[in-house]
Amino acid sequence: MNFRSLPKWLLHPTAVAVMAAVYYSTAELGRFLASTPENVTPVWPPDGFALAAMLLLGYRVWPGIWIGSFLTNIWAFLDKTNAASVAISIAIASSIAAGTTLSAILGSFLLHKFVGRGHLFERPQNVFKFVVIGGMGGPIVSATVGITTLCVRGMVPAEDWGMNWLTWWMSNVGGILIFTPLILTWSQPVLEAIQDVFALGTAGIRQKRKLKFKYLKSLSSKVKVAEFAILILLVLAVGKIAFGGSYPVEYMLIPFLVWAVFRFDIQGATLLIFIVSSIAVLGTVKGGGPFARPDLNQSLVLLQSFIGVVVLTTLMLYAAIAQRQQVEAQLRVQTQQVKKTLQDLQQAQAQLIQSEKMSGLGQLVAGVAHEINNPINFVGGNLFHANQYTQELLALIKLYQKFYPQPAPEIQKEIEAVELEFIMEDLPKLLSSMKIGTERIQKIVLSLRNFSRMDESELKAVDVHEGLDSTLLILQHRLKSNAENASIEVIKKYSSKFRKIECYASELNQVFMNILVNAIDALAAKRIKTNINDVETLPRIEISTKVLDKNCVAISIADNGSGMPEETINRIFDPFYTTKPVGKGTGLGLYISYNIIAEKHRGKLKCVSAPDRGTEFIIELPIRQDNS
Ligand SMILES: Nc1ncnc2c1ncn2[C@@H]1O[C@H](COP(=O)(O)OP(=O)(O)OP(=O)(O)O)[C@@H](O)[C@H]1O
Ligand SMILES: [Mg+2]
Repeated sequence: MNFRSLPKWLLHPTAVAVMAAVYYSTAELGRFLASTPENVTPVWPPDGFALAAMLLLGYRVWPGIWIGSFLTNIWAFLDKTNAASVAISIAIASSIAAGTTLSAILGSFLLHKFVGRGHLFERPQNVFKFVVIGGMGGPIVSATVGITTLCVRGMVPAEDWGMNWLTWWMSNVGGILIFTPLILTWSQPVLEAIQDVFALGTAGIRQKRKLKFKYLKSLSSKVKVAEFAILILLVLAVGKIAFGGSYPVEYMLIPFLVWAVFRFDIQGATLLIFIVSSIAVLGTVKGGGPFARPDLNQSLVLLQSFIGVVVLTTLMLYAAIAQRQQVEAQLRVQTQQVKKTLQDLQQAQAQLIQSEKMSGLGQLVAGVAHEINNPINFVGGNLFHANQYTQELLALIKLYQKFYPQPAPEIQKEIEAVELEFIMEDLPKLLSSMKIGTERIQKIVLSLRNFSRMDESELKAVDVHEGLDSTLLILQHRLKSNAENASIEVIKKYSSKFRKIECYASELNQVFMNILVNAIDALAAKRIKTNINDVETLPRIEISTKVLDKNCVAISIADNGSGMPEETINRIFDPFYTTKPVGKGTGLGLYISYNIIAEKHRGKLKCVSAPDRGTEFIIELPIRQDNS
């Protein structure tokens, strides 16, 4: 059916007409195929269709149900004797149709109220509500209205009201239990499309069309199709034995239902429920199988309870599995979220710790440099005058000696006691070495300030070699020999082709610091491990720089320390990865360095290493940040 070609105003009447036709034809088909010799239809399919249609399309299809039911009953009860009897027949059929319609409305209303829309078969409690409210509750109305109408008309004796009510009710329950799930699950995509036509006109159709073939697609592999065919064949074979032969093996059908649930989704399950129930009904009405009894109502009760168990068990099983899958999916999503949060937290923590650590160090260095700077400038500044005054005083003494070559004996004695000759010779030397000392302190202070560069947190062109040197200066104490380690030789091979690059100076110095500290640690580790002190393995750090292309420089820091195995190399840039003992390393140095180089400077940080051979870190940086 191409709904898109229908005008909007025709859609509702069409749905009503289709509903009426479906109701009428399924009723006739049901009667034709599965009526007992007493003309009782143990399962009444149209009510299953009616409830499904109402659940899917809403209450507005009620006229279709009423018309379908009316047509079904009018032929059955029409008495053409006279006009009055025709009118009475119409009244009976109308009343029964009203009962049927109300049943569907009530069932649908209660299901909407207690289950909500959707997820009818995806939770065990919903399946239970479907069976009890929709399956068993709704038909109470149609059975009561129908049998009471027939009683009032005298077509059913009042004393048989109960028995007839039960028969009517059970056949409706059967119809709903078998057909409603089948239709809801199999034609849901198609009916959704129809509903869209009601709601949106033709717009949503195209998109929904895909869904129609969803289930068939899930069967796409040939093996699965073959499996499905085998399943159906087995069901038919066992069904024939149970309901056509003389062996009461109907219980053997249950595993097939379980099979369908596990392998063929809800559509496979509802289809198998339909097939198994049909076999049971058809077999029983023909007088075969374990439920066929001389007493019709006994047969019906047995048959209905079988159908009830089949439906409930199968749908419950499906619901339990579906629920577990949902929970698993939710769990997966949550686990993913937790993982992500953990990662974010680790990153944040890592950055906090490292920036705390480095800014602490930076501040300390900057503070110390500042504190030393003032007095040393003071000393340096005064040394100039001290030197001048000394020169003048010495010249004055010489002048005295010239004009008074024979001083008083007491002065002569004092001159000898203080060794005036030596003082006059040594004092200038002493002052000049003091000058050299202060100049060195001033240089160190400058280096310290260079390292911390607290005032330069912005992008700026700075001398990379100066940064390397000042970092080495900070680490001087670790490079010198001590009780445990020989001194580390630092070989510098700085390129003369560049000096300044645009960078965040203090952060770049952090990177140098982290890599150099690691190299020193690795050298110490190697010495502790091998204890060899021959020239080949003398601890050495080589720092070289070169221009790679017109906007890229490389800075290499290589050590001949312990090196790293493959699995360590793969993880060195992970936050908190460390091979150092607890309390020694936080595992953040390289993680932070990587971020500073790769993210902040759009450069590269590479590592080449082999166990016992040493390690080389290569930093590649753009010379200018804007056009890199
Ligand atoms: N030059 C090197 N030689 C050998 N191993 C190294 C070298 N540099 C880094 N590593 C390895 O990489 C690991 C991670 O280094 P990273 O600097 O990130 O952390 P860490 O030095 O352990 O701790 P910290 O946070 O104090 O720097 C080290 O534990 C070490 O195993
Ligand atoms: Mg480190």
